Amino acid sequence: MNVLDSELVVGSLRRQGYQLVAEPVDADVILFNTCSVREHAEEKIYSALGRLTGHKKHHPEIVIGVIGCMAQKDQEIVRKRAPHVDIVCGTGQLARIPELVEEVKRSRVPQYALSLDRMEANRHEVEASFESYDPPRDAAMRPTPFQAFVRIQIGCDKFCTYCVVPSTRGPEQSRSPEHIVAESRILAAEGCKEITLLGQTVNSYEFVQGDGRRTRLSDLLERLSTINGIERIKFITNFPKDMTDDLLDAVRDLDKVCKYLHVPVQSGCNDVLKRMKRMYTVELYRDMLARCQERVPAAVISSDFIVGFCGESEESFQKSCDLVREAKFKNSFIFKYSPRKGTKADDLYPDDIPEEVKKRRNNDLLAIQNTNCLADHRSRIGQRVTVLVEGYSKLGLRQPASGPRQLTGRSMTDHIVVFDGSPRLVGQTIQVLIREASSFTLYGDVETSEVDGLALAIPEHVPNAAEESPRRIGLPLL
Ligand code: 5AD
Ligand code: SF4
Repeated sequence: MNVLDSELVVGSLRRQGYQLVAEPVDADVILFNTCSVREHAEEKIYSALGRLTGHKKHHPEIVIGVIGCMAQKDQEIVRKRAPHVDIVCGTGQLARIPELVEEVKRSRVPQYALSLDRMEANRHEVEASFESYDPPRDAAMRPTPFQAFVRIQIGCDKFCTYCVVPSTRGPEQSRSPEHIVAESRILAAEGCKEITLLGQTVNSYEFVQGDGRRTRLSDLLERLSTINGIERIKFITNFPKDMTDDLLDAVRDLDKVCKYLHVPVQSGCNDVLKRMKRMYTVELYRDMLARCQERVPAAVISSDFIVGFCGESEESFQKSCDLVREAKFKNSFIFKYSPRKGTKADDLYPDDIPEEVKKRRNNDLLAIQNTNCLADHRSRIGQRVTVLVEGYSKLGLRQPASGPRQLTGRSMTDHIVVFDGSPRLVGQTIQVLIREASSFTLYGDVETSEVDGLALAIPEHVPNAAEESPRRIGLPLL
């Protein structure tokens, strides 16, 4: 979500004549797009802001901004801990950034743009204060020119007790299918082949038209599948209770939809799930997994876990281990619980699991997951997979330009696949025969390459995810 927000902010500033620079000290405007999910992310921002104190003293004309979740949640704290910050702008106000920058430059008065707190007004007013900021895109800011995020929902209404997102990103609101389809058509016309639909609980997506017609995520996937040029559609992240059969059937039946479902469970223990207020039991989650496997046999599933949540006993933790062992997730993203001010968990329960225990549980769960990854990857040796080639792998970036170089891409099940090939394959969808596997990566050989006219137009310089993509102009939308 933050990567997409950054793309949109950069797009709007470019239209004002700004350019990206490689080093913050060369910039006229320095913006930190922030995350509040865990404390560590926030501390990194405060350290980075601290490092800029001297620079700002010597160059008072520069504009420093903190934008996104931390800005929305902690405007007062940001002001106190980093008095040299000129702009504090929340997630729902990002469209105003160019105007705020100009105002600071003109008046030298700090600018604050925040949406309403959820307790501050009625739902309608709070909703209206979180603007969905999606029209202006900038293709040059994407990970690659042929992949893009498309937001279909903002906010969250689940209120899991550990989570700040419902307050930093506001009430759940689904975007109109017409806007989503129009944006995706423009992306396709710009050469985008893969879109990833974003929402905090993307499978709760529902848009009701004035005349009462409902569009669910499954309906949206069907509509997006008809767009020429779009070859792949992914969606993240799902809420277990909202994984409906119509959605699973759409994933199974629509060829363009990736057979990959990210459905965070957070814990394998019902007591912990209850304290987290996840609104399901581990039995319901297991039934959901079984349903996914039955209805979409080709699908792989990944999950998120929080370890060391308040009151998580050794026995509770072992239940998470059992679930990881048994469920054979493609991936588990594991996080140590980080208490967040203003959340129910922080008010109600002591953060009683020592840091070393959280660390150990994190490592133990990761070890089980890595064993499963290796087994899953090895079972794919000998298979042919369809890969959208993204760019050079880390190794490929270091290899000499003269010989064959290692490329990387992803399969329809979101597996990372690396192989040797010509840079002209970047942006192409190709067949790779898997020859070898590690816990993290599948290694293969290119089987066929449908190098069409488009590929010949791709420049010799191959972008990779860490580099800026070739500059192209984003079309203003809607
Ligand atoms: N502490 C640790 N992890 C958290 N997550 C959300 N809030 C917290 C927190 N307070 C994790 C959840 C979520 C992922 C994006 O971040 O696992 O799925
Ligand atoms: Fe946070 Fe829960 Fe909403 Fe996910 S579903 S964003 S964890 S409140």
